[in-house]
Amino acid sequence: MSLSRHIDPEEVIQKSRDHPHTQTYRQAHERRSIHHSWSRDEDASGVPKYTMPEIGIPSKAAYQLLHDETLLDGNPTLNLASFVHTWMPEDAHKLIMENISKNQVDLDEYPAATIIHNRCISMIASLWKAPSEGKVIGTSTAGSSEAIMLGGLAMKKRWQEARKAAGKDYYHPNVVFGSNAQVALEKFARYFDVECRLVPVKASNNYIMDPKDAIQYIDENTIGVMVILGSTYTGHFENVQEMSELLDKLQEKTGLDIPIHVDGASGAFIAPFAYPSLKWGFEIPRVVSINTSGHKFGLVYAGIGWVLWRDESYLNKDLVFELHYLGSVEYSFTLNFSKPAAPIIAQMFNFLNLGFEGYRKIAFKDLRNARLLSRALENTYFKVLSNIHRVLPGKDEDDNPESYEPGLPVVSFVLSDGFKKDYPHVQQAWIPAMLRGKGWIIPNYGAPAGESESDEMLRVVVRETLSEDLIERLIADIVDTTESMMSEAGSQLLLATSGSVHQPDREHGRPDKANFGESAGEAQGQTGYARQC
Ligand SMILES: Cc1ncc(COP(=O)(O)O)c(C=O)c1O
Repeated sequence: MSLSRHIDPEEVIQKSRDHPHTQTYRQAHERRSIHHSWSRDEDASGVPKYTMPEIGIPSKAAYQLLHDETLLDGNPTLNLASFVHTWMPEDAHKLIMENISKNQVDLDEYPAATIIHNRCISMIASLWKAPSEGKVIGTSTAGSSEAIMLGGLAMKKRWQEARKAAGKDYYHPNVVFGSNAQVALEKFARYFDVECRLVPVKASNNYIMDPKDAIQYIDENTIGVMVILGSTYTGHFENVQEMSELLDKLQEKTGLDIPIHVDGASGAFIAPFAYPSLKWGFEIPRVVSINTSGHKFGLVYAGIGWVLWRDESYLNKDLVFELHYLGSVEYSFTLNFSKPAAPIIAQMFNFLNLGFEGYRKIAFKDLRNARLLSRALENTYFKVLSNIHRVLPGKDEDDNPESYEPGLPVVSFVLSDGFKKDYPHVQQAWIPAMLRGKGWIIPNYGAPAGESESDEMLRVVVRETLSEDLIERLIADIVDTTESMMSEAGSQLLLATSGSVHQPDREHGRPDKANFGESAGEAQGQTGYARQC
């Protein structure tokens, strides 16, 4: 048993100070609520943590204080839990800093930002094979989540209009997607009062929605199906084409015309480059809208997403606001008003700097590295759930991603059955805890709801910055960690030295689970909380 379980670290700190009984030291709660920096000139000493200081401190002191505090964060390059991009060239930094103070909505003041924004939409539209007839329309967003809200809202409005016109009830909309969906999809349903029909996923179908199952959840109140191009759990692509064909048949039989929104948060910036033959985008007429995160495989820093509709008729007029600025008119269909122009300009920087070929090379490299990691894991103590390293029938083991099962450069894996049988005392969840000690951040998620809810899976997102050199180190560290757990004594020792981090003010400003957790979710029959990201 570890001693620290019985010790309150705050009490220890307080007791360990010089002469605690002399009262020259502040009480524990007081001590916790002010900053104690190391700074020589003491500019930052006594600055409150939870109330705004009456009088500010010099900028250098504020910088030092926050610089020091953020040192405790993980290293973004080693954060393999995240899809979000973490590196751009110096010229991009320069451009971002030159434009950091511009607000995208100030159209007349910053007309170039608007023009660049619209050119981005045009480039993405052609990447996603938007039809030449009709007028594609789109906008930048804060990320895929906002983009999904907008795509969902447009489908809801379109369904409501059609129901109103037909004199039918338009108060009970539902939306269909797999239980592997990222939390943004459920958020859309809950925030905008749409019944969320989660299609359970099965291990036998790679933990993604099977279109044949999805069909059973659809009725006259279904506003649309959201198909995920690149499951957050395993990277598998859901089958947009099959979903569309089944919906065509449904329409023939029942007259129901159900649109598809593709959640291409990651995949819409991978598929066009790595899997050009795959049909998933606007070339499928039933796909009315697509979202992506510019800050994932669009290779921009956090803060940019995109949503496009195949034609402006799919974006209900109620969602479009006219903005009148110093004589000109612009149209806005976003949830937020002000937003930074810099990420949009940074997105265009990538389009110009990398071009199609540059993006293709990076996607190929990410997938190559993901295959290396997958095979190495299979050759050691793991079973790999993702499929991007499995050669398709009739293809060779070459560098072309189209020779393998399609998917994101993501490696999901579990301890092999053989390992679990031989070492039943080992818990998979220990692996990320121990790898954290070596700097790696790798999550161990619960599998999506469905056939195999009790399963857990480890996941590595292979981004541009995870070089082959780092993959080699990662493999060595995973093997080393796993082998050290084999003996009971070894696992006890490792666990004892890799305990969780003590974070005294972590709970500040967070909801209390008893008030906001499961109860809210249960009320609506939704999962709520505890979802992967
Ligand atoms: C499939 C999927 N959809 C939506 C999102 C949300 O994206 P964002 O973080 O850009 O809002 C993610 C994030 O990982 C995702 O993987």
